[in-house]
Amino acid sequence: MKILVTGTSRGLGFAIAEYLARAHDVVGCSRGTINASFKHISGVDFHNPATFEQLPLGEFDALVNNVGMATDGLFATQAEEMIREVIEVNLTSTLLLTKSFVRQRLAVRKAGSIINISSIIGIRGYAGLVSYAASKGGLDAATRALARELGPRGFRVNSILPGYMKTDMAASLSAEQVQQIVRRTPLGRLVTVEEVAKLIGFLVSDDASSITGQNLVVDGGLTV
Ligand SMILES: NC(=O)c1ccc[n+]([C@@H]2O[C@H](COP(=O)([O-])OP(=O)(O)OC[C@H]3O[C@@H](n4cnc5c(N)ncnc54)[C@H](OP(=O)(O)O)[C@@H]3O)[C@@H](O)[C@H]2O)c1
Repeated sequence: MKILVTGTSRGLGFAIAEYLARAHDVVGCSRGTINASFKHISGVDFHNPATFEQLPLGEFDALVNNVGMATDGLFATQAEEMIREVIEVNLTSTLLLTKSFVRQRLAVRKAGSIINISSIIGIRGYAGLVSYAASKGGLDAATRALARELGPRGFRVNSILPGYMKTDMAASLSAEQVQQIVRRTPLGRLVTVEEVAKLIGFLVSDDASSITGQNLVVDGGLTV
């Protein structure tokens, strides 16, 4: 299977691409360049959807929408530019890339599997993450609607909602905040990027052939 994963220069995206590359033909992308076991296309910027044109989207059987950015800070004082940027990168550009993927797959009369990396922040309220929450909640809603729209054409569309993982994105959390999350998590630890990657391996496979439109939470029980 040929799979495109976005945001693979580090963190979760890198782990997903490395894991999937053990069994599949994987292409990753991001703004920068990296050395990896999978092919990585640089210069793909979610601030500039024109850069998507270099991606041969119709070739891929599955698309993993992993690119994401977070900003924290109280909403009342957040700069308008920052609110727009989070929605643009996490939601609007992700939808535009997905639209191009769907159009190109339909043009070659093939279906595909789409996996959106969302977050538990989209289903639970956390102070300081209003714009990020809005972007992820929007992605989950789009997942359901797209699953209905494209199911008859054989596409499957799912979201994964991870809890906190140790990546650059979560690096601003203090040791105390991490301890508090761990204390509140029934399994007593953070989620690992490998655990999320394994779920994606399952979701792209035929073993998941009747799973679509779902928002799957991987958080050690934090949100139950
Ligand atoms: N870490 C967590 O605790 C956590 C929890 C739940 C959900 N998530 C979600 O998981 C996904 C991955 O997060 P992460 O923790 O791995 O974050 P990360 O370590 O900050 O990595 C983000 C990745 O996205 C790429 N990216 C960011 N902005 C981009 C842009 N404008 N254009 C193209 N690529 C861009 C980055 O590549 P370049 O900067 O090289 O372009 C990088 O590869 C995100 O959707 C995030 O919301 C994370």
